[in-house]
Amino acid sequence: MIRFGVLGSGKGSNFRALAEVFRAGTLGAQPVIVLSDLEHAGILDLGRKFEIPCHFIAPGPFRTKMSPEAEGEIVQLLREAQVDFVVLAGFMRVIKEPLLNAFPGRILNIHPSLLPAFPGLEAWRQAVEAGVPEAGCTVHLVDSGVDTGKILGQSRVPVLSGDTAESLHARIQIAEHELYPRIVREFAGHLLPRD
Ligand code: GAR
Repeated sequence: MIRFGVLGSGKGSNFRALAEVFRAGTLGAQPVIVLSDLEHAGILDLGRKFEIPCHFIAPGPFRTKMSPEAEGEIVQLLREAQVDFVVLAGFMRVIKEPLLNAFPGRILNIHPSLLPAFPGLEAWRQAVEAGVPEAGCTVHLVDSGVDTGKILGQSRVPVLSGDTAESLHARIQIAEHELYPRIVREFAGHLLPRD
């Protein structure tokens, strides 16, 4: 079975969607470790509920990235867990060389916009403020840029009149929970298991 590690900073609803599809036997890949830069992130509680090993990694002094030492620790844990690829599920820091080089072309991210529109933080709020009629979510490979890697799949959702940033994000998240398992299944289907 193809194995993947999950990195997240938030409540973990995308991880939950992946874990539930795995449990149903139709993901074609197994989440084997959950890592977070926030000690009390909901995603760590969820990981424990799914009986998957979970670790908090102290991020170091920077706000937007992990320290090189912290990323090194992540790489070591992912290697020890023998993961074939990495899934970012609401991980709110930029990925730098240690992790990128350890899993080249094998780190996926989900972003709550139709990239290349609205990269960066709170993309749903950016969409409401820009007044666009349509929003959505994108799964892409992670490269050294911010939300710039190769796009693997997208889902569209309408922006409704009267939408707030929160109501739009809720609609985008419903689309995310369908899109991410579908793209992870496709991606894993193209990988060879380690043995
Ligand atoms: C998701 O909407 C995801 O697209 C977004 O954070 C949320 C995490 O929710 N990620 C980013 O904005 C990354 N730039 P979750 O913790 O419930 O999965």
